[in-house]
Amino acid sequence: MNQQVRSQPIPFIDIVAQRQRLGRSIDEAVSRVLAHCQFINGPEVTALEAELAKFSGARHVIACASGTDALLMVLMAKQLGPGDAVLCPSFTFCATGEAVALTGATPVFVDVDEATFNMDAASLERGIATAKRLGLKPKAAIPVDLFGQSADHDAVGAIAAAEGLFVLDDAAQSFGASYKGRRLGTFGLATATSFFPAKPLGCFGDGGAIFTDDDELAERLRSIRVHGQGSDKYDNVRLGLTARLDTMQAAILIEKLGIFEDEIAARNEIAERYARGLGNVVTVPRLAEGCTSVWAQYTIRLPKGANRDGFAAALKAQGIPSAIYYQKSMHQQTAYRDFPVADGGLPVSERLSDDVISLPMHAYLDEPTQARIIAAVRGAISA
Ligand SMILES: Cc1ncc(COP(=O)(O)O)c(C=O)c1O
Repeated sequence: MNQQVRSQPIPFIDIVAQRQRLGRSIDEAVSRVLAHCQFINGPEVTALEAELAKFSGARHVIACASGTDALLMVLMAKQLGPGDAVLCPSFTFCATGEAVALTGATPVFVDVDEATFNMDAASLERGIATAKRLGLKPKAAIPVDLFGQSADHDAVGAIAAAEGLFVLDDAAQSFGASYKGRRLGTFGLATATSFFPAKPLGCFGDGGAIFTDDDELAERLRSIRVHGQGSDKYDNVRLGLTARLDTMQAAILIEKLGIFEDEIAARNEIAERYARGLGNVVTVPRLAEGCTSVWAQYTIRLPKGANRDGFAAALKAQGIPSAIYYQKSMHQQTAYRDFPVADGGLPVSERLSDDVISLPMHAYLDEPTQARIIAAVRGAISA
């Protein structure tokens, strides 16, 4: 391999390769929308909702404008507000806790499991006790299926049921993954996902969806999606948002959903190759029993004492990008540091924020390119 090939930049997520694979089918889907001009609530939106329902097994799917709106809409529909507490993991993307705070409720941050990075049941219990001690009413838990892997829904669901909380599953990174043989979208009261372009199932802009089996909640969500409208369009019966998914994005998603199973299988093969190539030099991600992943990220942990910035720089010098999700857990960020954390603190979240780093991961990562990444990681660790 000459120097030029070795340092050719590798994409972190290759949206271009997928665009090339889908080619004309996407162009034609967009052209159909351009021909019928129903840019809002066009037939593709209803068709996509039906396909997502079939794919996930959920009874209702409400497409919406983003993953953040999906979370917020459920919390609005449940009328959360000041004095209410919602238990969220701290090691997550900020939207999880942001949606809670936007309603006026209080996010109470809990810790995650060291191996799976997902909500830790014991810390959830401590967080509920913390919320009560602070005079807050614990109303909901938001487990996050982080980096593509399902959270432990039985453990979270049992605690939530015992405490009278509803569960809103934040599957923004993990639509397509399953837990004990059931696809995400069917756990808890409702599931929120994101179709941001970098997500395993992404559109060409912002988009999201909510999944629920609850008929009444589904109706309320459809109202909130359009300013809280009632059966008469001009009699708004509650506060709402402009949170619709546009027809063009729905048309694109229908095409992408057609190859999604195949892409999930490819992502799993790539994850297995990473595990084989790197398992003896870094901590590679582990799938918990009963969980599958769609590998939104391939996140490793560096050995104790490793210099993460130096490691990232060594990869970058060879054209290999990396990213740190999340350099700061939510409770360590300026906007969120005044919200409560579960008694006992969040040591695992803080450790993870110090030592994780994510490697390129997408369904089109070919074997020679991946071998280059693996060799670079091994070289950077031993240097
Ligand atoms: C865990 C999690 N929740 C929520 C969101 C919000 O999704 P969106 O960017 O579509 O608003 C994201 C997006 O990155 C996410 O990763």
